[in-house]
Amino acid sequence: MGWKFSIGLFALLLCIKCTSGDHKPTMFKGCPTFNIKTRLSIIEKSCFPCLSFSTTPSMSKLFRDTEFIFSMISPHLLDDQFCDLQSSGEFMMMFPSAVWLPEKNMFLTVVRMSIRKNGSMKSLLFTSLFDSHWNEVITEEMIGATQVPGIIPIEVYDYNIENAGPEDPRIFTFAGGIYVIFNMIDIDVRRKMFLFNFETGKSWPLRIIEHSLWSHYTEKNWTPLIVDDEHLYFVYNYKNFQILDCTDKSTYCKKVSGLFDSVPAGLRGGSPYVKFGSTQYFVSFGYSHIDYRKGNQFCAVYRPALTVVKANEESSSFELIYQSEPIDFEEKLFLEPIMPYNSTDQVKICEDGRIMMVASIARWDFDEDVVDATINLNDTIPLAIKITGLTDLVLDAIKMHEGGLVTGEENCIEKLAFKHFEIDDPSSSRLNLRKKRMMKYGNNG
Ligand SMILES: *[C@@H]1O[C@H](CO)[C@@H](O)[C@H](O)[C@H]1NC(C)=O
Ligand SMILES: *[C@@H]1O[C@H](CO)[C@@H](O)[C@H](O)[C@H]1NC(C)=O
Ligand SMILES: *[C@@H]1O[C@H](CO)[C@@H](O)[C@H](O)[C@H]1NC(C)=O
Repeated sequence: MGWKFSIGLFALLLCIKCTSGDHKPTMFKGCPTFNIKTRLSIIEKSCFPCLSFSTTPSMSKLFRDTEFIFSMISPHLLDDQFCDLQSSGEFMMMFPSAVWLPEKNMFLTVVRMSIRKNGSMKSLLFTSLFDSHWNEVITEEMIGATQVPGIIPIEVYDYNIENAGPEDPRIFTFAGGIYVIFNMIDIDVRRKMFLFNFETGKSWPLRIIEHSLWSHYTEKNWTPLIVDDEHLYFVYNYKNFQILDCTDKSTYCKKVSGLFDSVPAGLRGGSPYVKFGSTQYFVSFGYSHIDYRKGNQFCAVYRPALTVVKANEESSSFELIYQSEPIDFEEKLFLEPIMPYNSTDQVKICEDGRIMMVASIARWDFDEDVVDATINLNDTIPLAIKITGLTDLVLDAIKMHEGGLVTGEENCIEKLAFKHFEIDDPSSSRLNLRKKRMMKYGNNG
């Protein structure tokens, strides 16, 4: 079995242009680091940051045709209160997620559209196609029972309650089908995870047995970990690296591995896992959620963090073999023309600079070491970027693992995040304790 993985890895090593690929990790408080800052970068063309629709943009602002999107939304908003929405500007697009469909030669995307009206917030999911250069394709077509482009038909039991409607979509493929996992307040006023199937146009809630025992809970960030055509696995919580199997929709999701604990630690679920070439390793950008406190600044800061999982299909066991430090692409995404800053010292971490997440690894050219990823910036700016350096970095993480380095450190992300942001470890602070109490039930984001 071990040799099968090694042959896969060997084959991958042979077939990719491995520039150097032999970096050893540096240890920090028991956690391996690969100095990602110098290795992972957004591909810079001469026009960086390049937002125009050139033939090969390295970065694109997604969903720019808002007039068109408004024409799609309006029939879904029966309530009069939304009629002056477009002029009010209280309309945001966040959490763009994408998969590459090779048979169409296009990206299929899903983004959360959030409408804030008179202080209350409601969400819908919008799906559309983009060509390989991230130009939006607006000819209508059906993908299964789902019209694209269009609003994903999800039944919302009451749009009048606060934070109603589907949030944080993650699109992925499984056994030839296309699915979206999202969270939404259900009829019993609990926030649950749901799956939507493009083929049938239907969605259903995902449950664990504890839900029947708890009076209240909130679920978020379950991350697809599709390793074969037979199982719908999700990372439930990175603490104890807990995996659920939700294949059988007639019953509760089964716990596959990891001691159950619903309270999340510093690492949260991010982009759906993608298989690393022909190996049994799977890669995702989760995100670090840390309570930033420095001087009189106080806020929760989100940054992408790379994770690598090894799957052993025969025994359905999973190992989280690597979690990186927070990644910020040198904060270049916060600069003009995406955000109104000329230099990174102007970025206000507790304001516009607070939120950066990778919502999907949409396509990965292993040979060229180029990844198309979608980014949620500030919960207001959906982006697609091209990243280089990931193939090389993941190979190093795998080599580290196969070389026998087992750290045993669970919560590397917090240690590495505090180092990254140059703040003291505040784990004993009162805010943290209060937050832990508040998040007792359910995997709150
Ligand atoms: C907006 O909220 C205020 C106070 O909460 C309320 O008085 C007003 O009627 C609301 N307006 C609309 C259009 O819902
Ligand atoms: C960032 O988000 C805040 C809060 O929603 C918003 O007021 C601000 O305009 C956003 N900044 C940009 C550059 O979109
Ligand atoms: C950024 O640079 C431009 C041109 O150099 C200047 O006009 C503008 O005021 C600068 N903005 C900030 C926020 O410093």
